Amino acid sequence: MCGIFGAIANENVSELLLKGIKRLEYRGYDSVGMAVYNNGSINIKKGAGEIDSINKKLNFLELEGSCGMAHTRWSTHGKPTDKNSHPHLSQNKEIVIVHNGILDNFLKLKNDLIKKGYNFLSETDSEVIAHYFEDKLKNNLSIKEAIKDFIKDAEGTFAVLLMHKFEKKIYAIKRDSPLVLGLSDNRFLLASDVYAFSDLTSKAIFFDNDEFAEVSESGYTFFDRLGKEKNKTIKEFEWEQDESNIDKFEHYMIKEIMEEPLVAKRLLVSLENEQKDNFDKLVSMIKKSRKVLFIAAGTSYHASLLGAYYLHKCGVESQTLVASEFQHFATVDKDTLVIPITQSGETMDVIEALKYCIDKKAKVFSIVNVPYSSIQRMSDASINILAGQEVCVAATKSFINQAVLLLRVAKEFSYKVNLDNISDEIRGVLDKAEIIKKLAEEIHNKPDLYILGRGLSYPVAREIALKIKEISYIHAEGMMGGELKHGTLALIEEGVPVISLISNKDYDMVSNTKEVESRGAKTIIVSNELSGDFKIETENDGKFGILATTFGQLLTYYIALNKRLPIDKPRNLAKSVTVK
Ligand code: AGP
Repeated sequence: MCGIFGAIANENVSELLLKGIKRLEYRGYDSVGMAVYNNGSINIKKGAGEIDSINKKLNFLELEGSCGMAHTRWSTHGKPTDKNSHPHLSQNKEIVIVHNGILDNFLKLKNDLIKKGYNFLSETDSEVIAHYFEDKLKNNLSIKEAIKDFIKDAEGTFAVLLMHKFEKKIYAIKRDSPLVLGLSDNRFLLASDVYAFSDLTSKAIFFDNDEFAEVSESGYTFFDRLGKEKNKTIKEFEWEQDESNIDKFEHYMIKEIMEEPLVAKRLLVSLENEQKDNFDKLVSMIKKSRKVLFIAAGTSYHASLLGAYYLHKCGVESQTLVASEFQHFATVDKDTLVIPITQSGETMDVIEALKYCIDKKAKVFSIVNVPYSSIQRMSDASINILAGQEVCVAATKSFINQAVLLLRVAKEFSYKVNLDNISDEIRGVLDKAEIIKKLAEEIHNKPDLYILGRGLSYPVAREIALKIKEISYIHAEGMMGGELKHGTLALIEEGVPVISLISNKDYDMVSNTKEVESRGAKTIIVSNELSGDFKIETENDGKFGILATTFGQLLTYYIALNKRLPIDKPRNLAKSVTVK
């Protein structure tokens, strides 16, 4: 889950590289580095820490040259230290690489190279790649032949950019980790995803697995794993430019929450227009399948729980399983429809579960946010939720659009819902931010927090708890109201905050709320019909699940603001978890 960015142009690329890698920082921010080629020499600057602080220390813009690469890291093998940061140099300092992914057999490759006398400076798996290529070139292989061997020998996932000090070229190699070539006037840009250059171009070529490309200032050539030239199509992708300017917001998290009315509307309009065919295909694939299984992780899993609820309410049997456990609990066959739901489209847990399903001949329809992401390209068909770039590690607007899409699907199976005013209803929650701010002040210094829900509001309870944990660092449990009395009630004592999500007049939820209040809990009641601490203005309980989530996102944001926490880049996490 790192970000890689490369550029060849007829201008100095260091500023291009810095801007591109900054736009990928949401993929990991433990360390950063840059390497620029300049007439037979390769100059590198790198260090452990976030981009802005390392740039202040090392000044990346001092690097001169019109061909280069950059890397922002989320540590897998080896702590976030200067030595473990990318780019990595070969021993003879002629080859430089950046890598996103994990080489499963790096120890074997490393030991073979150590036996040949190569010395390693870092603890990373990635450094193996630099020495591997040096060794191949020493045996008189061309870089292209060495790449073919690498694709054969390497096990695991990789998006690699490689430069050789004797030529102004970038070689790019891909398997499972995302990689895309952006075409912008006379610049060739290589990146982990389109957002790195969506402010410069909307033209891109997406790598498929075990493909590589040779990119120079005069152009590019793609090759398959056997080194045979491949023609590739240039895709036009759309990415709303206005969403990328954070200027008027203090954090990406609040900016992206505030975009929810806009992106929900954009999605619904697309389902009647440019995405109508794919939407109709999803509905028909659900109708034709014997079993519907969602696969997802984290927030996307909570959206899939909402989807299973909506479909169940209209008589469509579906189940959802957390991606990392999927293979242990799900049987899949050719009559199963699996629906991976994933914002990034790169979550390795989902990719692994999907490979298992594809082996069993299941049909795959994916719901993603990042266009042309790996999971979208592993699917039989797919829909983009059009939430736009989501930079904050916490998923907010992407969850809302996942849930809006699933509710819109349920409507095709007779779920009674009017979605025409969903944007106004989300805006209705946002307009009451002052009430939420006050609630956040009351609970921001509590060590533990519980969120209760039942049926429709149970997935919301889980999702709000995740937000609170990952962004405001408070231990929060989202749970079924009915489960409380089976044990967790023992933890409720005077003053413990319990958020109670009561959709319509759910009397069972009312009694669960009484249970905790009688033991001294400080309850915060969120309801669309009953009086309480926060009123969700909607007549339809299906939308309550969406609107109460926006409430929880804002509550989390204001708690974290009170605690002066990083918010967009919480400790230990990254936006796209591309390791198992
Ligand atoms: C949610 O706020 C987290 N960032 C995380 O749980 C995330 O939802 C999970 O990693 C799944 O990511 P995906 O939707 O890109 O697959």
